[in-house]
Formats: sequence, structure tokens, C-alpha cells
Amino acid sequence: MKMRNVAITAVGSYLPPRIMTNDELAGIVDTSDEWIVSHTGIGTRHIAEGETTSEMAIKATENLIKRFKIDPERIDGVIVATATGDYPGFPSTANLVSRHFKTKGGAFDLAAGCTGFIYALDVARSMILSGTLKNALVIGSEALSTVIDWEDRNTCVLFGDGAAAVLLEQAAAGGLAPALLRSEAMLAESLTIDPVSRHITMDGKAVYQFAVRAIGEIVTDVLKAGNLSISEIDWIVPHQANRRIISATSRRYEIPEELFYLNIERVANTSAASIPLALSEMEASGLLKEGRKILLVGFGAGLTYGGSLLTWQRS
Ligand code: ACO
Repeated sequence: MKMRNVAITAVGSYLPPRIMTNDELAGIVDTSDEWIVSHTGIGTRHIAEGETTSEMAIKATENLIKRFKIDPERIDGVIVATATGDYPGFPSTANLVSRHFKTKGGAFDLAAGCTGFIYALDVARSMILSGTLKNALVIGSEALSTVIDWEDRNTCVLFGDGAAAVLLEQAAAGGLAPALLRSEAMLAESLTIDPVSRHITMDGKAVYQFAVRAIGEIVTDVLKAGNLSISEIDWIVPHQANRRIISATSRRYEIPEELFYLNIERVANTSAASIPLALSEMEASGLLKEGRKILLVGFGAGLTYGGSLLTWQRS
């Protein structure tokens, strides 16, 4: 019988060993630990020292292979969600990952800012269901420290580096529901990597207001699409941009704040890597049990946003 479900069957992650504290940042720009913690919820971030986005993606995949005893020879497609690929155009970061693991299926990068992982999951899911791919490695990997303006206190305190990978395969039950993918491109310039300076630029207030609305709308619409109520959800895994965004959304949309899984305090905003990094941590600490309902929510540059319902099922 043809299976119509696609599930995450393995996860892995990698964080570069160098940890940068808020106090260290206060020695670079006019800021303080107190300001950063109270305005963002961020305490530390990991910073890549010479490691590229593809190298971190490979290490995250090696972690996945080791943790879940996956034979790399059976990995088919590779999709990397990133805004900081090793090369500005081509080859794609996914091709560099594919070369390392000698995969033969389609390999390409996907650009949808911090929503990239949600978009990539849905693309991979569709390609597996259509028969184009047997399975797919979906990776979020970012070396944001290479595009941070280290003289701009408005942005340099917000971001960190890291990578995480998931393996998507057909499953008998559960898995990923079709995603909701959205774009609000009138606000495209409110969050950019400037093509000349190659630095992140951000209209913080516009992004903040958008983010609160985007999370609220996606949670509401994913619940509606699945005919579920919030009490049936075990976890919401949001893009980790800012703790205040989560608190404001929770108040405005009456979503219990304790449903949100947050690791922003330790890893800051890792853009496309943030949702799989959280999933990898949750799996390692036993939070993802069979049948658990997890609502994934992304929002970011584009502006893009989206989400999907994941029923944890590993086979
Ligand atoms: N340390 C100290 N002071 C700072 C810092 C800092 N690191 N950054 C900004 N300030 C100052 C500003 O210069 C400003 O000073 P001024 O009034 O003298 O001009 C003051 O703090 C207030 O600035 P606001 O921008 O109003 O600060 P706000 O309270 O709105 O917080 C923040 C800024 C945290 C960036 C907020 O706008 C926000 O959360 N925006 C969402 C954007 C976000 O999270 N982006 C992440 C990337 S996007 C994504 O992942 C989707």
C-alpha cells in the first residue's frame, strides 16, 4: 500500500564551541547584559570561528547519523535552508553537503530567511510524496556572524551561528501535515542582508509587530486546518528571534506561554537553523514522544512566515 505520510525519522545538530556572552558584546558596542536580557531574552550565542555554513551542516548531519544509526548511503535528496551559504551564488551549500556524504538525489538551497526551514520541510515533503525523492535531508545552517555589523548594537546582539538537520521519510502514520506558507513582501526591505555592505539591516519595530501577528495567525490557522484546539497541542516550536515577541503573542492571542519551547537564552537567533536546533534539543531531552503534537512556526525575512503541524512518529 502506498504510504501518504512523511515524518521526521532522525535529527541532529551542531553548535560551534565558541560561546560569546553579553558582557563580551558590551566591550564591543554600547550595550549591557541587562539591556540584552530584558529586551530579547538572549544570554549567550555560539560563534563560528572559520567554520563555514556547509561545514556546520555536515557536522549536524554527522550528529544525526551517529544518534540515529543512519546509513549515509541511503540518503537521497539534500535541501539546505540558509541565507549565508558558503558561496554567494553557486555551488549551493547543499551540493557541498551532498559531496561529503556522496548523495545522488537532488541537492539545492532554499532562501526564505528565518522561515526557510518551514518552507524546506514542505518542499521536501511534497517531493517525497510525489516520488521525486526517496527521502530528504533537510538542514538549516547559518554563519550569521559573517554578515553581522559588529558596530551596530541594534542588530549585533541578536544573532548566533549553528546548524541542525532532520531526515524526512515516508511513514505509516503521523508526520507532517501540509504547511501553511505565506509572504508579506511589501515589508521586504525591513530585514535585509545589504548587497553592498553584506551586513544585516533591520527595522526592529516593524519586524517585531509583524512577528507577533505572524505567530498568532499561523497558530490560529494551523489549529483550524487540523480541526484542533490549543489544548491538544503539546509544544509550539517557534523561530527563536526574541523572547518578548513570544510573550507578547502569548498575551495577545491567549496562547499559554509554557507551550512555547525556547532555547534563545543560550543560542540567540540562528535564523533558518533555529527550529531544527530546538527540535534536536527536544528529542535529546526526551520531550518528543510518539504521538506528540508539535506546532512549528517560522517568520522572517521576505517577509515570510509559515507553519505546520508535526505529529511525532519515527516510522
Ligand atoms: N543595547 C542598548 N541599547 C540598545 C541596543 C542594545 N543592544 N539596541 C538598541 N538600543 C537602543 C536604541 O538605540 C534605542 O535608543 P534611543 O531611544 O536612544 O534611540 C533604544 O534602545 C530603544 O530602541 P528600540 O528599537 O525602540 O528598542 P526596542 O525596545 O524596540 O527593542 C528590538 C529593540 C529588541 C530589536 C526590538 O525592536 C525587537 O525585538 N524587534 C524584533 C526584531 C527581531 O527580533 N529581529 C530578529 C531578526 S528578525 C527575525 O528573526 C525574524
